Amino acid sequence: MAVESTKVYEEQIERFSAFDRVLHWVTALAFLYCMLSGIGIAYSKFHWLLTFLGGGEFARWLHPWAGVVFSIGAVLMIIKWARDMVLTGEDILFLSRIKAYISGKHEELPEAGKFNGGQKLYAWIVFISAIVFFLTGIVMWFPENFDIGLVRWSVVIHTISFIIAGAFTIIHIYMGTVGVPGSIWGMIGGKVSATWAKFHHPKWYREVKGE
Ligand code: HEM
Repeated sequence: MAVESTKVYEEQIERFSAFDRVLHWVTALAFLYCMLSGIGIAYSKFHWLLTFLGGGEFARWLHPWAGVVFSIGAVLMIIKWARDMVLTGEDILFLSRIKAYISGKHEELPEAGKFNGGQKLYAWIVFISAIVFFLTGIVMWFPENFDIGLVRWSVVIHTISFIIAGAFTIIHIYMGTVGVPGSIWGMIGGKVSATWAKFHHPKWYREVKGE
């Protein structure tokens, strides 16, 4: 007896262009390389990480160049995405009720547009940290050209930036994969399901649909 297969094709909505996706993944890869090689270079307990990143000498050479790629990527992100990331009063309300978001009480939160308050906050952390990493990184890359006091401050500020951007990136990776199932498809194939869009970004869904 033949078994008929029923395939339900869900409506798909365009979320990220090919340019946005390439920009995201190139910037993300560069950032992750910097983050892991940075930990390996700075902390002797984590030197073993460098074995997976091309070896100690290679990682020390590539780290600043990957930083340059990350910074250029982040500047392009600012140019392309900053308008979408402007924080509104509703986003601040969202952030002040982040506990409700974590416990799944979506009805207590303002409806999100293309990005919610948490995503916008992360985007600004990436944008600002990229500038800070770049400026302090240049001083650390060519220390002989700068005052020793400035070099020392650069190391401290580079590390603080790493702690903040690194912690938020771990949350971002969790949210983009396990935390909000379905998100990753937008960043891989460019499209998300209508159900996902309606649930997570209802205002954006209505805008796209012209409702
Ligand atoms: C394996 C690592 C990563 C995964 C799985 C991931 C996943 C994603 C996904 C699924 C989105 C779209 C969210 C949506 O449609 O609402 C996104 C957006 C974004 N990603 Fe990533 N990402 C990763 C690493 C990074 C890194 C390292 C950076 C920083 C350089 C970054 C920066 C951003 C920014 C600024 C956005 C837009 C704002 C936001 O949605 O939070 N991502 N990412």
